[in-house]
Amino acid sequence: MAGAYILGIESSCDETAAAVVLSGEKLLSNVVFSQIAAHQPYGGVVPELASREHLKAIVPVVRKALADAGRSYQSIDTLAVTQGPGLAGALLVGISYAKALAFALDKPLIAVNHLEGHIHAVLLEERQKGNREIKFPVLALVVSGGHTHLYLAEHLAEPRDLDEQRAAGWTYKNIGHTRDDAAGEAFDKVAKLLGLGYPGGPIIDRLSTHGDPTAVKFPPSQLKHRDRKDKGDAGEPRFDFSYSGIKTAVLRYVEIHDLQASIEARRKPLGGIEKPRLEDYLEHCDIKTLNLVASFQRAMVEDLVAKTLAAARACDVATLFVTGGVAANHELRQRFEQAAAMEGLPVYFPSRPLSTDNAAMIAAAAYPKFMAGEFAGADFSAEAALKL
Ligand code: KG4
Ligand code: ZN
Repeated sequence: MAGAYILGIESSCDETAAAVVLSGEKLLSNVVFSQIAAHQPYGGVVPELASREHLKAIVPVVRKALADAGRSYQSIDTLAVTQGPGLAGALLVGISYAKALAFALDKPLIAVNHLEGHIHAVLLEERQKGNREIKFPVLALVVSGGHTHLYLAEHLAEPRDLDEQRAAGWTYKNIGHTRDDAAGEAFDKVAKLLGLGYPGGPIIDRLSTHGDPTAVKFPPSQLKHRDRKDKGDAGEPRFDFSYSGIKTAVLRYVEIHDLQASIEARRKPLGGIEKPRLEDYLEHCDIKTLNLVASFQRAMVEDLVAKTLAAARACDVATLFVTGGVAANHELRQRFEQAAAMEGLPVYFPSRPLSTDNAAMIAAAAYPKFMAGEFAGADFSAEAALKL
């Protein structure tokens, strides 16, 4: 076969996305329709609204993905769709549409775990750049609005050559996750608390360079009941995260330093601007707020880097992947690059457009399943809490 053209569809949260990827290594199109504007007035994703927005966007988004790739519906070899984890109603829109399209075209359909998709975003881009030298085992940090997970990833069977490597299935072992809030969720909640709008990660990322990251000291995150040296069920060490404490510490700082009035003063004017620019934020933020934002980001980044590298050392991994929405963060990338270089560990991130939710990662993750003939049964459904 000349290669497998895979149409990926993603609708797990607030992005309606479709993409065409050739054999897990060539991105032919990548269309992402963001629903941010619809959810912004509510300061977060409203599940029912997300489903309705997916329903409106899905047909034009898929049509555009095929047009951008220069492919007809019939020339696609298989469809792939996110099965979970995510918002059930949102997932159901993508799955129903993908099932109907697969049936109408008489093509197979592949169910993909969203978290596996984030990991494959890295592989897709490295292969596209010609990098076929990824060494195993890989430690992947998937860090997004819904997840903060550490996976040890390996091939199911040792590939004999590069073609086999591309098509080889993967196996994942979870060695750490957040005990409470996901890292992206902490960014979003802190931004909301400070009257900065939604989603918080990109705003805090941009504002952080304007404050002093050493101004506010946050205590290191405390893991209640068990610490990260604790053993999991199989007696292996765990590397868990916790981010609800830092969110509470920000709230306490706001109360102690009487920042409520300045928060209320910015909430309304910023909320009235459809797409606030950096200057708009800066105009409405005093230096105390900027220092708080920069210090919060520094604390988040330091914790993510320190825990991930501790896990990398303990598991003696050969390569690090950092992926998911929060991997778009500039300071996080910089600190991971510095810290991994000191350990002599190669670290890979997806490009920023492929860090946040997209369907190219779903199409890429589907390729080994396509080669193995792992197709979804007609009765498969959304799994809001699907595990990897
Ligand atoms: O992967 P993603 O698009 O959706 C989920 O699967 O959750 O991640 C979205 C999350 C949001 O919490 C958002 O605030 C965060 O990623 N995010 C960032 C940045 N860009 C997006 N967090 C920190 N810095 C960024 N530049
Ligand atoms: Zn995601």
